[in-house]
Amino acid sequence: MPHRVRPKNVLTLESLKPHKARAVAEDPPYVVGVSGSSGGPIALRVLEAMRTAGVPVALVVSDGGRAVLKEECGIEAEALSRYATALYADSDIGAAIASGSRPTRGMAIVPCSSNTVAKLALGLTDTLLTRAAHVHLKERRRLVIVPRESPLPTLLLRHLTTLSELGVVVLDAAPPYYLHPQSVDDQTSYLAGKVLDHLGIPHHLYRGWKEAAP
Ligand SMILES: Cc1cc2nc3c(=O)[nH]c(=O)nc-3n(C[C@H](O)[C@H](O)[C@H](O)COP(=O)(O)O)c2cc1C
Repeated sequence: MPHRVRPKNVLTLESLKPHKARAVAEDPPYVVGVSGSSGGPIALRVLEAMRTAGVPVALVVSDGGRAVLKEECGIEAEALSRYATALYADSDIGAAIASGSRPTRGMAIVPCSSNTVAKLALGLTDTLLTRAAHVHLKERRRLVIVPRESPLPTLLLRHLTTLSELGVVVLDAAPPYYLHPQSVDDQTSYLAGKVLDHLGIPHHLYRGWKEAAP
């Protein structure tokens, strides 16, 4: 009887099994996208709080995000690598977070430019940030966005409605006057805290309504 040799590169049942070791060794990250809307300090606060919470973070910053970080925070995007397990270039369209086969725990786009909102609503994925967000939509994973524009144009409102209907959490960057913020810093912490709330990450960024005096 001839000796049967298994040809190379053939899928076997064994090779199709989920890779258990990967799930144990690599905790799926939260994906954070920073795009070019005003709100760089909110992105910084979110990343600081995620580091405090000790969660893995895959970070991608768009060109617009880079410009805003420089203008509003006086930093280069590379300075954010200290908060991230991995910092990807927005052009790195083949990065792990571009594929639905790599698990993640959810994604936040903070801040989220009108340009990026439009791309998400239309399914355009020409950058890693928009591709990663698209993956979260198609895989039905949590996606939180913080748009900021004023006044809100009708087109943006339409796109936000589309995204909200798809399950995206749209957090507008509005201050919570009812919580009596004492400073812009308080407002920034509140907005960052809302992002973490919706990703299910514990934090001490703000106190809720009547939380201080039960
Ligand atoms: C300092 C600064 C502030 C900006 N603020 C906003 C904003 O609040 N909302 C917005 O939608 N775009 C804003 N933009 C414009 C976007 O950055 C621009 O449309 C960019 O192309 C977005 O690209 P992205 O979606 O790839 O990040 C701002 C740009 C700069 C430089």
